[in-house]
Amino acid sequence: MKKFYYIITYGCQMNVHESEKIAGILRELGYESCDGAERADIVVFNTCCIRENAENHAFGNIGMLKKLKSENRNMIIAVGGCLTQQMGKADNLKSKFPYVDIIFGTHNLHKLKELIILKEKQKKAVIQIEEDSGVVYEGDSPFRTSYPNAWVNITYGCNNFCSYCIVPYVRGRERSRKSEDIIAEVKTLIAEGYKEITLLGQNVNSYGNGTDDISFPKLLESIALLDGKFRLRFMTSHPKDFSEELAAVMAKYPKICRCLHLPVQSGSNAILKQMNRKYTVEDYLAKMEILHRYIPDCAVTTDIIVGFPGESDEDFAATLDLVKRVNFASAFTFVYSKREGTVAAKMPCQISEEVSKSRIMKLVELVNAQTRRHTESYVGKTIEILCEDFDAKKQMYMGRDEYGRMGYFKSDVNEIGNFVNIRVQKANGVSRLGERV
Ligand code: 5AD
Ligand code: SF4
Repeated sequence: MKKFYYIITYGCQMNVHESEKIAGILRELGYESCDGAERADIVVFNTCCIRENAENHAFGNIGMLKKLKSENRNMIIAVGGCLTQQMGKADNLKSKFPYVDIIFGTHNLHKLKELIILKEKQKKAVIQIEEDSGVVYEGDSPFRTSYPNAWVNITYGCNNFCSYCIVPYVRGRERSRKSEDIIAEVKTLIAEGYKEITLLGQNVNSYGNGTDDISFPKLLESIALLDGKFRLRFMTSHPKDFSEELAAVMAKYPKICRCLHLPVQSGSNAILKQMNRKYTVEDYLAKMEILHRYIPDCAVTTDIIVGFPGESDEDFAATLDLVKRVNFASAFTFVYSKREGTVAAKMPCQISEEVSKSRIMKLVELVNAQTRRHTESYVGKTIEILCEDFDAKKQMYMGRDEYGRMGYFKSDVNEIGNFVNIRVQKANGVSRLGERV
């Protein structure tokens, strides 16, 4: 009899790729995917705890499975990801949701197969959270679901300890995969027909630190030199580690996309210091200058937090100023979320929800206006789109250009995975509608 799995993923690309690894394990055990928890024999929650709302969301959805589980006692519910790795959270989850069968963490995801087999043998729940061993596990067989893009981890964990961020506590210290393993994986992916490779890490620029392996720019170059038509992206970069060498490599190889995600977090030096970001606004602007000297039209995107403890009206005004100066192609904007165990959680002057809300609204308005202007500037131009998907609602194919901008077009044939030139006829928010040329 067929067995089905259903995975619910919260959070970033890192988690999306980890869910692909979970899917790979479940398929090895004979499970097939299905499109809802109702039909599933195993439901896996791959959680995120970077902000409180992601955490609440997961808690809410696990709670909603209680009824299904009471109707189908054989269904296995597993919870993994960043949330479970937080101190005391696994016990908390177990007491709140006694019907959860398996709880695993970020450091033993690759052991999920054993945990499921163990659960099938015993009645008792299996709860196993491991600490970071410092060892990089090789041997994942992800079941990839994002063709034509393929995610490739290059580093795990983070050493930066930005004062607001829980990631270093739940993902452990930074460790890099061996360059030979990364390059071998990319070669296989290209041979399999993937057209876009996205290198993943919390701070890709510090790849190889503390080892005698090659630096991040050299790794990027080695991959860009591989044969085949494909695009190369990477995320996320930390401004303090962004180097001229990297800008030069990006400029030299057309396979490397003309876009950079460089989270600035705030436009105020006082707040950046409190955030432990280790750069100033001036440093950030100097890096922008270097980047644009090498790649004048590079699209820069960023992350910004508003409402960090102690953020004054002047600090926030400085953030708006910086957004105008840099003219980001787009930005992810967040209201600061207090994370227990981080340094910022203990800081005085936590900002009220009301003030944070009004700030984020102003910021979003500014960012949206800039994004719209960027998008509109493409009308009349021809761009090369890598087609990713078919949008059933719009009845159009969609994809991105090398600047990371979305484009939609009509076609009578399946275009997914094709590089397609479109002439942009209309701009619509972040996306552009065009005609195949
Ligand atoms: N509150 C709000 N945003 C946060 N981020 C990380 N931690 C927090 C937090 N506690 C944001 C940062 C980071 C992005 C991935 O999430 O902007 O770059
Ligand atoms: Fe968190 Fe800072 Fe590390 Fe990014 S660099 S994961 S924000 S601690």
